[in-house]
Amino acid sequence: MTYEPYPCILTVYSKSTTTSIDILPMLVLGIDTSCDDTCAAVLKDDFEILSSVVSSQDQVHGRFGGVVPELASRKHVENIIPIIDHALSLAGVALSDVNVIAVTRGPGLVGSLVVGVSAAKALSASRAIPIVGINHLEGHIASSFLTDDRPAYPFVALVVSGGHTNLYIARREGEYMLMGQTMDDAAGEAFDKVAKLLGLGYPGGRVIESAAQQARGTPVEFTRPYMKKRSYDFSFSGIKTAARNVVAAAGVLDEALVGNIAAGFQEAVVDVLVSKTLDLAKRQSVNTVVVTGGVAANTRLRTIMAERASKNGVRVLLPPKHLCTDNAAMIAAVGIIRAREAALNNLTLNAVSRWMI
Ligand code: KG4
Ligand code: ZN
Repeated sequence: MTYEPYPCILTVYSKSTTTSIDILPMLVLGIDTSCDDTCAAVLKDDFEILSSVVSSQDQVHGRFGGVVPELASRKHVENIIPIIDHALSLAGVALSDVNVIAVTRGPGLVGSLVVGVSAAKALSASRAIPIVGINHLEGHIASSFLTDDRPAYPFVALVVSGGHTNLYIARREGEYMLMGQTMDDAAGEAFDKVAKLLGLGYPGGRVIESAAQQARGTPVEFTRPYMKKRSYDFSFSGIKTAARNVVAAAGVLDEALVGNIAAGFQEAVVDVLVSKTLDLAKRQSVNTVVVTGGVAANTRLRTIMAERASKNGVRVLLPPKHLCTDNAAMIAAVGIIRAREAALNNLTLNAVSRWMI
């Protein structure tokens, strides 16, 4: 595939000064190494995905039942350049065609983030390509811009992943109000821990989902935590402990019990996520809801959210599953917005493990 380079006029000043930019149309290279997936993608400025590559480390961490940060960093070091090369070649472009590099700066595992940020800075320095550091959570929200059915502002955004369960109102581009968050485990983390408890392996979300689908008995009933009226905060560690107590009381963990716990656990988590999200939309008179992050790949969550939203007259946008879980297309999407605003960084860019929006 041949590629005609895009015209590009670009001026980038130091961090403290305003950056002037006029690079439309442009190509953005996105990079994400926030946790255990090595991701690179190439997007055009109209949010068209030319390529998106995700290298999963599930096999590396599977036997430990969770991500081992040091192993994740080392795998990123091995993978990052081949994955970027792969994304460029799938898109049919060369590095010299790229106008902006957008890289996840945080939040996440700092040893993992540093690999992506360092690679991005090296590429930026070697070809004088402007660089911008992106918030991974904002990336998840921006995955909803990558489909034809894009949200209009204002909208409610539920970001539900392995590290976060955050409810936002997105008022306008780049402006988010955090309305609620988890007080303990993130929903995805609870899926992972319950899967480990049930001996189902890692990552937990997908295996709990399939155990729940195969369950034929009555799902175990779990109390819905933190359903206090008008609180948009979440708590999932109680359901996890309740699941542990059910296992301990049963003594023997057979396939039927595993299925019934998985189904009951999934149902409780989905119910809380859907209820709070739609309640926020109703109370704030916002009629569009975006659901994203790894847990948004859960079919039961997608189905119940869509059903209950439609009963409430709310439009729900669920990006395709591969855009809900970690990817770099969503990071490049925010990169496009930042480049349009001329809000770029320079080579002092560093990784940060905590960074709320
Ligand atoms: O967004 P993500 O890929 O990475 C983070 O930013 O954390 O989310 C990963 C989380 C994991 O906890 C994983 O178990 C969960 O998303 N997950 C799921 C499903 N697929 C992934 N949870 C429930 N059902 C799924 N199908
Ligand atoms: Zn994520």
